[in-house]
Amino acid sequence: MASTATGRHEFLGDKTIREEFTPKTRPDDISFEKGLRPQRLKDYIGQNELKAGLSLFIEAAKKRKEPLDHCLLHGHPGLGKTTLAHIIAKELGVGIKCTSGPVIERPGDLAAILTNLQHGECLFIDEIHRLSPTVEEILYPAMEDFQLDLIIGQGPSARTIKIDLPHFTMIGATTRAGLLSPPLRDRFGVILRVDFYSEMELKEIVIRASRVLGIKIDEDGAFEIAKRSRGTPRIANRLLKRVRDFAEIRADGIITKDVAHEALILLEVDKNGLDRMDRQILLTIIERFNGGPVGIDTIAVSIGEESHTIEEVYEPFLVQAGYLQRTPRGRIATEKAYRHLGIAIRG
Ligand code: ADE
Repeated sequence: MASTATGRHEFLGDKTIREEFTPKTRPDDISFEKGLRPQRLKDYIGQNELKAGLSLFIEAAKKRKEPLDHCLLHGHPGLGKTTLAHIIAKELGVGIKCTSGPVIERPGDLAAILTNLQHGECLFIDEIHRLSPTVEEILYPAMEDFQLDLIIGQGPSARTIKIDLPHFTMIGATTRAGLLSPPLRDRFGVILRVDFYSEMELKEIVIRASRVLGIKIDEDGAFEIAKRSRGTPRIANRLLKRVRDFAEIRADGIITKDVAHEALILLEVDKNGLDRMDRQILLTIIERFNGGPVGIDTIAVSIGEESHTIEEVYEPFLVQAGYLQRTPRGRIATEKAYRHLGIAIRG
């Protein structure tokens, strides 16, 4: 039944299929802020243990002249998973094709991407936990044996074809490692956890970004932004750009501690980095649900935000910084949350 296709022409010969497939990957430089994101491991600040492991695995793969094992990057949004994926490709000296779990709708979409890879190239799949089960099935033999098993047609005339794939490195990124199916997780040889950054690391990131963007900032100004960036480089860089706007219009263009402080008041980012939505989440739990426990869906309805967004974007920091507790019965505001918001705990 199985026949080995001599080339991917046979499969991709259908023009309609090919046209549908091409937009499924993004060129690696779209949405990739050139310059602002570090391109090499030596320029990447923080995640020291991760970097040490990664540079060793990359060096070993290069020495053996083999593609790097498949890598899984997991961590909260904005911590640098995409940046790291690009750095891995750069350090290996290979190209990278980028796509994301929800974009790959059908097995054929993934097949087209895989058959277009070059030997040694990286395939970056962001939000890999959102791949559909049928697409995931295709990935198993592709990752393990560099083979594509495709079923062509339906019913009695259906047949399987096997296509040899170039040896490639899959780089998967996920905010929810726990949602990855065990068979998929097991096919990654390198699993890297990206953590929140320290204030000092974020200060360095802000200083580096200022240099790249030509922003004038002093150490205390950078530290003020770092302290309020919730351990997240993406937030630090976003705040930096808005504080720069403030400094240019309301000050002399130089970001000092005072300028940063004034700008961040305007941005409604408080001294611990909580923004309006963070405070609203905590206030809702405290004032409307007596401090909790309350379910995430109830909180979401109360504040008019998606449960998914609260869980992915706001909650990780609130939990990590000790403002919120996740329990089987729901979310609870901690004593620290009451203190921070200046609300007395009711006995
Ligand atoms: N920009 C965003 N994340 C960074 C990091 N970890 N190091 C340097 N610059 C960054």
